[in-house]
Amino acid sequence: MVKKILFLLALFSVTALAEHLLKDQNSAIFGKDLLLNIAQYDKEGSLHLGALFTFLQGKVFVKAFLAITFGVPLAFLIHYLIIGPMVFSHDRKKIYVFNLFHRIVHWWAGVSFVVLVPTGLIMVFASSFGGGEFVIICKQLHFAATFVFAIAVLPMFFMWVKDMFLALADIKWLMIVGGYLSKEKKPVPAHKFNAGQKTWFWAATLGGIFMIITGLSMSFQDFHVKFLQDYGISQIDFLRACAILHNVLGMYIVALFFVHLYMSIFAIKGAVHSMISGYKEEEEVEILHSLYYKDLKEKKVI
Ligand code: HEM
Repeated sequence: MVKKILFLLALFSVTALAEHLLKDQNSAIFGKDLLLNIAQYDKEGSLHLGALFTFLQGKVFVKAFLAITFGVPLAFLIHYLIIGPMVFSHDRKKIYVFNLFHRIVHWWAGVSFVVLVPTGLIMVFASSFGGGEFVIICKQLHFAATFVFAIAVLPMFFMWVKDMFLALADIKWLMIVGGYLSKEKKPVPAHKFNAGQKTWFWAATLGGIFMIITGLSMSFQDFHVKFLQDYGISQIDFLRACAILHNVLGMYIVALFFVHLYMSIFAIKGAVHSMISGYKEEEEVEILHSLYYKDLKEKKVI
């Protein structure tokens, strides 16, 4: 009996909400654009995302995220067991590489990522987590962390962008996988940031901005973007595109985020200290950022 009453109440609420939204002619989903959303379905001008979205959401995303969530850390575990971490001397000079502003912005973005990535994954695997209150709380945390991240993303972009463009040394770095496949301490071709760090920078900043736009679009759903309508793209198609982009880019970001954590916490012993104190060990710079080290020597900074 109680269940029946609850069911009727839920039904009543949903109908009342739908009626309210339908009355709102300004709604991009239920208002005057409703017909566009329906008429455009799979017609010319439509992005034809309906079937693709259903297929990816139903059959691909969860499996792909599962492979990344367990596969990438497993690869690192194997690397750690076979090759092990790089250890650099702590007895030589220390080189000041990150000022206080760099470190604050980095930690600010880092903290938001530590919330965004696990909560994002929990939403992806929502049914395995029972789908209830816990997942809803994670969704809200994910939403809140977006605004924390949004504060840091532009300062982070501008403070580092000049050092992040691809250089010839980066190709060489990629060809030897940054020297991480051996324990030998041979100077690795890299400037202040190596090719791996540059890849992560672009994914976290430009990719992060895309994540904010697609995430907030999914969250607010019902809004008007004039140029989409000018191109005849319906709101539903736009939201599907956002969901697909958010997931695909999300996979790339999760994988690189794991790489970033592994490199800074495990693969290079003590590397995380540079983001605490601002200083890197001289030997670490000499080996892992050999071109930057040469520059600093020429400029007599060290
Ligand atoms: C810079 C990083 C990210 C930002 C700024 C971001 C932002 C957002 C926002 C604002 C939402 C809407 C939340 C809501 O409606 O309450 C969202 C939803 C979502 N995000 Fe993210 N996110 C990021 C990274 C990730 C990552 C790494 C994953 C995957 C692991 C992920 C997976 C999801 C999922 C599954 C949803 C739910 C979509 C839905 O409601 O259907 N996000 N994101």
